[in-house]
Amino acid sequence: MVACSRRRRLIAGAVPMIRCCERQGWKWSLLYLARSRAQAASCEVLLAFGADRVRVHFDDEAGHLFDFSDPSFSVEPGVPIYCCGPAPVMRAVGDFSSNHPDNLAYFEWFSPPVEAGTDEVSTGFDVKLQRSGQIVHVSEGKTILEVLEEHGYELSCSCREGMCRTCETSVIEGTPDHRDYVLSKAEREAGRTMMICVSRARSSMLVLDV
Ligand code: FES
Repeated sequence: MVACSRRRRLIAGAVPMIRCCERQGWKWSLLYLARSRAQAASCEVLLAFGADRVRVHFDDEAGHLFDFSDPSFSVEPGVPIYCCGPAPVMRAVGDFSSNHPDNLAYFEWFSPPVEAGTDEVSTGFDVKLQRSGQIVHVSEGKTILEVLEEHGYELSCSCREGMCRTCETSVIEGTPDHRDYVLSKAEREAGRTMMICVSRARSSMLVLDV
């Protein structure tokens, strides 16, 4: 399902997610959680955006973990939630979203560890375009989207950060290395689509429906 609201609620979000929202003209607010102020590496940078947009919670100062059922935490109806963080936070946000179906939650699922002896996931790989049969190489420093654009393809895209789902592309063969914020765990495991603006390949070649 596509998140079409022009507002975003970020949980434990990072500066790149904020920059993406700013570029898209999306209003955003952030709940930043950390065990302590000392462990909140980017706290000062985030607080500079203003208390009206950034709320912080430190477990040691509050004396407890953040309680997503507390009335002080609310998200406007229709506003999607983007969350990255440790599993307990992800689960708590998932529970909140389940109880507030109008607030869809999207999670940054970190990639599974690379198996010993296999290539690093960021190395280059090939992409075969099913419709033309053309094969292009995606080098380590490029995204699939960038390479296809360099080859003259005009593809739908918006955020270029794996957050909007505009560039979602069907995978015909190969194993994607998902790096987006929007696919569900089941969608990742199915591997039938991918966000070509950020995601890469775990196989040496992907065949895409382009
Ligand atoms: S352009 Fe937004 S997810 Fe790829």
